[in-house]
Amino acid sequence: MILITTAGKVGADAARLIADRGEGVRVLVRDPEKAIASAWSGVEVVAGDLAIQSTVDAAMRGVSSVVLVSPAIPAQELGVVDSAVRAGVQHVVKVTSKASADSPIARRRDQAEIENGLITSGLGYTLLRNNAYMQNFFMSAPSISKESSFGSAAGEGRIGMIDTRDVAAVAAEIALAPASHEGRTYWPTGPESLSFADAAAVLTKVLGRLITFEPLTVEEQTQSMIDAGLPAGLAAMNAHAVGLFAEGDCDYVTDDVPSILGRPARGFERFVTDHVASFS
Ligand SMILES: NC(=O)c1ccc[n+]([C@@H]2O[C@H](COP(=O)([O-])OP(=O)(O)OC[C@H]3O[C@@H](n4cnc5c(N)ncnc54)[C@H](OP(=O)(O)O)[C@@H]3O)[C@@H](O)[C@H]2O)c1
Repeated sequence: MILITTAGKVGADAARLIADRGEGVRVLVRDPEKAIASAWSGVEVVAGDLAIQSTVDAAMRGVSSVVLVSPAIPAQELGVVDSAVRAGVQHVVKVTSKASADSPIARRRDQAEIENGLITSGLGYTLLRNNAYMQNFFMSAPSISKESSFGSAAGEGRIGMIDTRDVAAVAAEIALAPASHEGRTYWPTGPESLSFADAAAVLTKVLGRLITFEPLTVEEQTQSMIDAGLPAGLAAMNAHAVGLFAEGDCDYVTDDVPSILGRPARGFERFVTDHVASFS
């Protein structure tokens, strides 16, 4: 049995992929009604909350591998790690980012704390230090749809963005057959490193109308995220991370996705093509 700790973008797809392979998979969700409405055949949905240890322990029974993916609150994810140790789990696939204990970005420091707790737990583990998600573009979908433009503090920086469907596929593959990935750290990316001007050109081509990229300052980016409903602290942290794109912080591409999956990673054009309705 494989446990997926949440049913967000990565967790939901990973669960479906594992079920499609005929393997036992369980997903912990806060709202089972929502998950059941998604009608996942072959996926066991259990009600729980990563903030409530007893529900994590209950979900962990009989589990051999865990896909650890969540908003990465250290107390919660380290609670999952402790629970996995007690339950005799063999392997944890940890979905993470550019983790670093001295990063200026709090989430990256938190990810480093979680990674370290997992590494020292004695469990088998694999770290997926993913590049930025293409699905972040959904936050700009309203402005792309209505104004045919999107703003960002990414400047001219290039980013080796990855489609979360590929993150899910990599996590599922490793959870199903962890042996050759034991103790490994991967840096999954898409197949190309694109600036946001490049992304605007792809959107223009696929949507068939001119889409423009408007450079923002980090302060403007923060405000736009607050306007979109993010709490101020989270908006400031996310905008700071986007500002680092401009400095080339995420300008790298690896072959981790093709080498693990045996097929190319999805590119940005494929992502936009598959989600035309969201941007129209
Ligand atoms: N965005 C990026 O560019 C990027 C890049 C690299 C790595 N990452 C990492 O990716 C991870 C996020 O993955 P994702 O994009 O798949 O997440 P997501 O789509 O944002 O979904 C988060 C899920 O977590 C669930 N959740 C939140 N708190 C919970 C709790 N206490 N108990 C149970 N479920 C809970 C939410 O459920 P509800 O429906 O109940 O709220 C939701 O289903 C983070 O670790 C992040 O650092 C992100």
